[in-house]
Amino acid sequence: MAHSASGQRLRAPSLATRFGRSSVAARLEHEVRLTAADLADSVAEAKLRVAAARYKVEDEVRSTAGKLKSRVRKAADEAKARFGDDARFLKSWIDSPGRTGAVAPSSPFLARRMASYVDPLAPGPVVEIGPGTGPVTEALIARGIDESRLILVEYSPEFCELLRRRFPRATVIEGDAYALSTTLAGQLTERASAVVSSLPLFNKPPAERTALVEDAFGKVLTPGAPFIQFTYAVISPVPRKASGLKAQVSDWVLRNIPPARVWVYRRGRP
Ligand SMILES: C[S@@+](CC[C@H](N)C(=O)[O-])C[C@H]1O[C@@H](n2cnc3c(N)ncnc32)[C@H](O)[C@@H]1O
Repeated sequence: MAHSASGQRLRAPSLATRFGRSSVAARLEHEVRLTAADLADSVAEAKLRVAAARYKVEDEVRSTAGKLKSRVRKAADEAKARFGDDARFLKSWIDSPGRTGAVAPSSPFLARRMASYVDPLAPGPVVEIGPGTGPVTEALIARGIDESRLILVEYSPEFCELLRRRFPRATVIEGDAYALSTTLAGQLTERASAVVSSLPLFNKPPAERTALVEDAFGKVLTPGAPFIQFTYAVISPVPRKASGLKAQVSDWVLRNIPPARVWVYRRGRP
């Protein structure tokens, strides 16, 4: 039997107390284990969330990089095509300045102005003469004229080949636009809703220019339809006195080298 320092007999802890303590300890241990498990779960969950967020960020970075890459590639392709067109045009001008009539293709601004005078809802084909590398053709399509409605008359075989590649559903005719109705023979199933011309008209004598528009209004265009022509000159490229045509002219399109204006000629119903 144990005694205290004062000699009093010490009582041994009861079974219940002993059992109670170990039960508290067990409960505590259980709580600690549960808390540790909860903590481990939380850490695992947090890790999962971090991984998911990282994956999302990586995915976004990947897709943005992909989009950027394709945009850069598209811009580079466009620049290459533009540069290629400029080079082709310059070569054509060096080979035949009078026929090419310009050292560079028309700007998109001038091309859009030309196309703006064509009514996409008017029925019938649209005849483009002197399309070159196709800036006005592109603007006509952007205006809502289906490519299959376009008849392109171009003198240069190189430009014709390029136009066939670029506008596979259009009809490309390699020929002389000054003999318009003859060149179009067999290709026009109905009268055209517009003639859009980029021909360098001033390189031809006035009588030949007049003959071209007379032919266009007499044999190609539907009554009231426009003959659209751009020019760098200050005067009308079609001699108006003799032709008896109604004419309107745009303001100067300054974003073109050199600046140009668009003339629209019409002949009323007879
Ligand atoms: C001033 S460039 C215009 C090209 C293009 N439409 C543009 O705006 O950039 C004139 C174009 O008319 C073509 N051309 C010149 N005489 C022609 C003719 N008699 N018949 C058909 N095309 C002709 C040239 O080959 C050249 O492509």
